[in-house]
Amino acid sequence: MKVGLLTGGGDCPGLNAVIRAVVQSVHNDGGSCVGILEGWRGLVKGMSRPLEVAETDGIIARGGTILGSSRTNPFKNADFDIPAVRANFQALGLDALVAIGGDDTLGVAHRLHKDFQMPMVGVPKTIDNDLMVTDFTFGFDTAINIVTEAIDRLRTTAESHRRIIVVETMGRHAGWIACFSGIATAADYILIPEVPIDIAHVAEVLKRHRAEGKNYNIVVVSEGAEFPDKGTTNIAAETDAFGHVRLGGVGNVVAKLIEDQTGYETRCVILGHLQRGGAPSAYDRVLATRLGLGASRLVLQKNFGTMVALSGTKIIETTLAAGVAASKTLTMSFYEEAATFFK
Ligand code: F6P
Repeated sequence: MKVGLLTGGGDCPGLNAVIRAVVQSVHNDGGSCVGILEGWRGLVKGMSRPLEVAETDGIIARGGTILGSSRTNPFKNADFDIPAVRANFQALGLDALVAIGGDDTLGVAHRLHKDFQMPMVGVPKTIDNDLMVTDFTFGFDTAINIVTEAIDRLRTTAESHRRIIVVETMGRHAGWIACFSGIATAADYILIPEVPIDIAHVAEVLKRHRAEGKNYNIVVVSEGAEFPDKGTTNIAAETDAFGHVRLGGVGNVVAKLIEDQTGYETRCVILGHLQRGGAPSAYDRVLATRLGLGASRLVLQKNFGTMVALSGTKIIETTLAAGVAASKTLTMSFYEEAATFFK
């Protein structure tokens, strides 16, 4: 069997571990692998490279993706790009394609399978942990550890200057990263997209924590958090090929309002792409490897239109249709537990 692999959308730590697992499994079965470069753009433009087992040595410890990634959506200019995708797939002599990505990348794989019967298998990934069906995505654990380390560092400078530091995390329209890293760092308040921002309450809690003896505060805000009736704070007006706005900057707005309402000196730190960079955690390496092995099984069984997912501790198989049906916001019981500390 000749199996193509591509990584699409925002990169995240653990992608290379999936690639390694698929290449090894297919090799063990007597097949070969081809890496499609830069996500769906590589299939539109015919950019690829052979992938041998020897080339995957050591990549488990590397962040990013050795194949490159992009947010190319071949269905945006479908009249030109979909025929190109199909022609390049054929020209490469592929029997299957493993698409490793979030809801956008997997959504394209789903449509190519549904509309053109192309042999697709998906592997879910994202630091945002906002994919349906799978309990956790690899990349998320690494991201929350990066945020945790950053906040642990910010705490000492906040404390020295008796300041409030507002830390803005990624996560798009889901509060997973903000909530988990906020719990892990005992943040004074956590703001998430799922709950409208109530600055008066934030200020009240911060002042109470000061009155109780604390002389600095940490507030974690997710980039997708919204003020009532105001929508998200966006970096740019334009959207990407999948129609997503670029979020960012809500932390600055929150910091200014907090300073105005509390009188305490406040600073904002936007962690941005730091959260996606660097080596994957051990947990993410293991999860990504297991998902890669699971995806290879589906490919070798010719079980297409499917994807792997994590359910509890088990790697399960589901359909691409189920995986991309909706995105997964934060399970509110986690936020209720977090909110015990800022009631
Ligand atoms: O989906 C992953 C993610 O990092 C989001 O948390 C963030 O909003 C977005 O990607 C940033 O995208 P880009 O890398 O295109 O700026």
